[in-house]
Amino acid sequence: MQHPMPPRWNLQGKTAVVTGAGSGLGREFALACAAAGMRLVLADVDEAGLAQTLAACGLPAAEAVTQHCDVSRPESVEHLARTAQERFGGTHLLFNNAGVLVAGPVWKATAQDWSWVFGVNVMGVANGIRSFVPAMLERGEPAWVVNTASAAGLVCPPDLAVYSASKHAVVALSECLHHELRASGKPLGVSVLCPGFVATGIADAARHRPADARDANPDQDPGLERVREATRAAPLSAAEVARVTLEAVQEGRFYVLPHPPVRAAAEQRLQAIVGGAAPTSPRNAAP
Ligand SMILES: NC(=O)c1ccc[n+]([C@@H]2O[C@H](COP(=O)([O-])OP(=O)(O)OC[C@H]3O[C@@H](n4cnc5c(N)ncnc54)[C@H](O)[C@@H]3O)[C@@H](O)[C@H]2O)c1
Repeated sequence: MQHPMPPRWNLQGKTAVVTGAGSGLGREFALACAAAGMRLVLADVDEAGLAQTLAACGLPAAEAVTQHCDVSRPESVEHLARTAQERFGGTHLLFNNAGVLVAGPVWKATAQDWSWVFGVNVMGVANGIRSFVPAMLERGEPAWVVNTASAAGLVCPPDLAVYSASKHAVVALSECLHHELRASGKPLGVSVLCPGFVATGIADAARHRPADARDANPDQDPGLERVREATRAAPLSAAEVARVTLEAVQEGRFYVLPHPPVRAAAEQRLQAIVGGAAPTSPRNAAP
């Protein structure tokens, strides 16, 4: 079956909700959507970052709103969905984008590493789907969900086990959602974004780690430093990834892999699986 969107979906006047909009990819999604003439609901735990994104978008107050939202909390995401409904009559394009990262050997990952990263990266996406998709289905107008996974959702880099496991979960639940939306017969779809390294604040995700989840893997530094260096040297900017993603949405594509080496790394992993070989290390392809 072809994707359910009309050819080159016109986003003008539609409403986008972006989580993690206070920095990095989320900010660039907001800018790209504003440039496409969309109305915006911007969410993050970082209110100063949100204010900067809002200012950069340059939209009048009637067309954009910011909201403090912790995506790991169901009631916070419910509130976000209500805001989109009350301010703009609903959501056409949802970016479940907020994400955090920890590094270090998996046997040193703490219980709080697991619950913080899975709370934001996995439950954040699940909360977004639960709070927004039923209303999208009910309204029956064209609508789309973009889940930000990662290259680390397709391959398994050393020192990023907790993050990689969370992003594999995002790819898996996005594939399931794709099938379910197709079966609904409604004009709704989903894309899963799996970028390689992009210059953003992700290596410093701990800046927003809650005080009650402070207990962190004590051996993160080499892993985080590798991510920091790789994001600084990233071949694609966050703006370019946002542009490619919006294009994929308008064309109704599911997998969005803006970095060509990520495709090669994913293929290598699948070949090892079907060939019965041990995995090769994809250190340079993720997150
Ligand atoms: N930068 C990369 O190399 C890269 C590669 C692949 C995937 N990603 C993914 O891209 C997404 C965006 O990250 P980024 O790279 O722009 O990093 P970033 O740190 O610049 O932005 C992430 C944003 O998420 C927000 N956030 C953190 N916890 C939150 C919570 N509980 N609720 C709401 N917002 C929260 C942060 O405040 C921040 O503004 C993440 O899901 C990340 O895993 C990043």
